[in-house]
Amino acid sequence: MKATRKLGAPTEGHRAPRRGEVANMNAGRTEKEQARVHIRWMIRRDMPEVLQTEQQSFEFAWTEEDFLRCLRQRNCIGMVAEHGEKVVGFMIYELHKNKLHILNFAVHPAWRRHGVGAQMVAKLISKLSSHRRTRITLEVRETNLCAQLFFHRQEFRAIRVLRAFYEDSGEDAFLMEYRFGDDIGDEMDETVNRIAQYEEN
Ligand SMILES: CC(C)(COP(=O)(O)OP(=O)(O)OC[C@H]1O[C@@H](n2cnc3c(N)ncnc32)[C@H](O)[C@@H]1OP(=O)(O)O)[C@@H](O)C(=O)NCCC(=O)NCCS
Repeated sequence: MKATRKLGAPTEGHRAPRRGEVANMNAGRTEKEQARVHIRWMIRRDMPEVLQTEQQSFEFAWTEEDFLRCLRQRNCIGMVAEHGEKVVGFMIYELHKNKLHILNFAVHPAWRRHGVGAQMVAKLISKLSSHRRTRITLEVRETNLCAQLFFHRQEFRAIRVLRAFYEDSGEDAFLMEYRFGDDIGDEMDETVNRIAQYEEN
């Protein structure tokens, strides 16, 4: 599916002081304020701001049609993070029987490193439970170190390398996963399936 081709070929970051940053001359670096955001479902009216963030975030950006095609699917959900009246981040994810899968996710460049991404991931994590959906997965480009570090900080772990995953650049992806509590998830499912198959044959 086209939606899975991307997650993570970001455009170059920038290091000019950002909104909310306060110069700390003694430490020779800046201190940041966290931006409190309201997280809600995405609606059609959000699309221009979402597209702007998308285009400023990815080399291989989704088009409006890509978003709409994806969101038309019954198991696909869009969420946005709003600061005041402004949409500063978005996430598109799929609902599966036992897990959530992130398809697309970005914070507007002017609002990065203010905790917006972390708040959106926390919201997603709050949807997990021990008896239903116990995992969150996503693919991230091997070159997208920022996203890898971000997700690692949110307690996701790289569990597999997916060779030549992206059609556009041919690059590999890391499959990253967050697990609720002590979930042992798929390993158990796969084991059961393999045993079942073995017995049938
Ligand atoms: C990845 C992304 C969504 C993170 O959003 P964000 O709002 O900037 O993240 P947060 O401010 O919540 O970061 C939380 C922590 O994650 C880590 N982190 C975030 N961005 C990082 C970076 N560029 N480098 C290293 N660590 C980073 C830090 O530990 C950070 O805490 P700190 O700022 O106190 O050091 C954002 O950088 C982005 O939109 N990138 C471009 C699109 C993209 O790559 N999307 C993900 C595709 S898989």
